[in-house]
Amino acid sequence: MQKGAELYKGKAKTVFATADARYLVMHYRDDVSAFDGAKLAKLEGKGETNNRINAWVMEKLAAAGVPTHFVRLLNERESLVRAMKMVPVECVVRNVCAGSMAKRYGIAEGTRLSEPIFEFFYKSDALHDPLCNDDHIRVLGWASSEEIAAMKAITHSVNGILKPMFAAAGIDLVDYKLEFGHPVDDPHGALTLGDEFTPDGCRLWDAKTGEKLDKDRFRRDLGEVIQHYREVGRRIGAPGV
Ligand code: TMP
Ligand code: ASP
Repeated sequence: MQKGAELYKGKAKTVFATADARYLVMHYRDDVSAFDGAKLAKLEGKGETNNRINAWVMEKLAAAGVPTHFVRLLNERESLVRAMKMVPVECVVRNVCAGSMAKRYGIAEGTRLSEPIFEFFYKSDALHDPLCNDDHIRVLGWASSEEIAAMKAITHSVNGILKPMFAAAGIDLVDYKLEFGHPVDDPHGALTLGDEFTPDGCRLWDAKTGEKLDKDRFRRDLGEVIQHYREVGRRIGAPGV
């Protein structure tokens, strides 16, 4: 599929048009960002690694019946995806307390939760992605009640697929963030998983040692970020990582 004009440059990926308005090229750059763009760097090899991990995870999710925008890998750094109109919220599921939840409620990082906790965040770097609830989303017109229910249901079902997959690789899926939308050629169809699933948007801890294998290595200056991302890819069996 021929790559067309650059449409959007995010913090870690650039999106290009194709000759067919129903499809886009998602290009994974080496850029890494944390704290809503306040901390930036380039990490060699991140683009390729995340492109491959994402492809593998998206294929597993699709095989388990989750509708996703992912079509196929195009090359080392690029994947073909369906063009989507995105809901401007982030869906987070937590199996273990960490990050902003630990800070907000004064609970120790690493505290196991008796069941997964779901949280919505409004997607806005300028506002630092504030926590929001169903009413904010519905009344402010970001999504309908049906879409809210679908985002929760799909995000929880992703947990049921990925938690055991990571566990089999000796990795604890601590938390993760998903984003949803509707394909532009099917605006009233099923809510569809968009964006990415990579170590940039989740917390992954070694099940035995608790070592961090995700973007907290960058946020917290722990070093060897991409070596640990690659370790994740290898352990889950993502081809080419
Ligand atoms: P948090 O603890 O900072 O709220 O993040 C929870 C999980 O969601 C963590 O794995 C990182 C991911 N996340 C993002 O990838 N991007 C975001 O903008 C937010 C708020 C969370
Ligand atoms: N994804 C956000 C950023 O790039 C927040 C974070 O990961 O800390 O800045």
